Amino acid sequence: MTEVVHTPRVFSGIQPSGGLTLGNYLGAIKRFVEMQADGIESIYCMVDLHAITVWQDPDKLRHATRELCAGYIAAGLDPAKSILFNQSQVAEHVQLSWIFNCVARMGWMNRMTQFKDKAGKNRENASVGLFSYPTLMAADILVYHATHVPVGEDQKQHLELTRDIATKFNHDFGTDFFPITEPVIEGAATRVMSLRDGTKKMSKSDPSDMSRINMTDDADAIAQKIRKAKTDPDALPSEAGGLEGRAEAQNLINIYAALAEMSVEDVLGEVGGKQFSAFKPMLVDLAVARLSPISAEMDRLMQDEAEIDAILADGSERARAIAAPILKKTYEIVGMVGA
Ligand code: TYM
Repeated sequence: MTEVVHTPRVFSGIQPSGGLTLGNYLGAIKRFVEMQADGIESIYCMVDLHAITVWQDPDKLRHATRELCAGYIAAGLDPAKSILFNQSQVAEHVQLSWIFNCVARMGWMNRMTQFKDKAGKNRENASVGLFSYPTLMAADILVYHATHVPVGEDQKQHLELTRDIATKFNHDFGTDFFPITEPVIEGAATRVMSLRDGTKKMSKSDPSDMSRINMTDDADAIAQKIRKAKTDPDALPSEAGGLEGRAEAQNLINIYAALAEMSVEDVLGEVGGKQFSAFKPMLVDLAVARLSPISAEMDRLMQDEAEIDAILADGSERARAIAAPILKKTYEIVGMVGA
């Protein structure tokens, strides 16, 4: 069999379930913008069908989807360069996910830690969608033959499953139709932690708003949250090794490094020896300088919902133009009769 070389193509997505956090920005969107700048064809999705695996109020879902699109653009994604769209407008995702439901094994799905975390103790009452979510995620990626997927650390297991699904499909049908996608988990902030507890991920679903910075927070809120962020009594170390066992210090330094686009080592070279009382105001200034223009631009974009909807409609059409022939070919490979 001749080896198929897949042209590089980037795909990633974010759930419009509530607002965007600093974790989403540093772990994902900022990386999306960098990949767009690299000139690789890129497709960024608002995964509304994923969001409804847990209950979403319909009006809030619509608002969050548009706000996420505004966040993408405000952070630097250009709808003329990247394809921006919401998942539900391209039916091919769901169609391919069914094929993948028949490829993925129960044993693989049972190992997904995110399902266990999200379903919690009340597993019997979790939606079937929440359980099968990773096959839809694999379909999101593979319906575009995407080769690279920028994500935060928490998505690693889902991307391994995506690779397993592509490998098994290719093996079962004696083809190399689907690429074996590379996760792109890079930078200082692949896992931004809660400001209240350095051992927990920063998340939009944390009951405490003080645990996270929202992309819609104003300068005062950002300053207050960083000032109140949990720390320890020691001064900052001058070398990365000195952050070991100091989860909160590590987190704030990682956030600083990612916002300043510096390495952790270089940040510590500058701030090593300082107390948190001196470092936190530096972090506040940097965070406000970087995030305020984004939230102001999100606000401005949200004034014109029709324009956002037009961008999503245009992106969906361009996305479908790529996805439809890949789905058609998949159906042929699997043995579906059709024109
Ligand atoms: P979601 O919506 O939970 O998160 C979106 C992106 O933000 C990253 N992220 C973080 N990164 C660093 N620190 C954090 N605290 C943090 N919190 C979130 C996530 O890693 C992710 O990159 N299943 C996905 C959405 C999805 C998807 C896809 C992603 C659906 N289909 C296809 C890539 C490709 C999710 O729930 O992400």
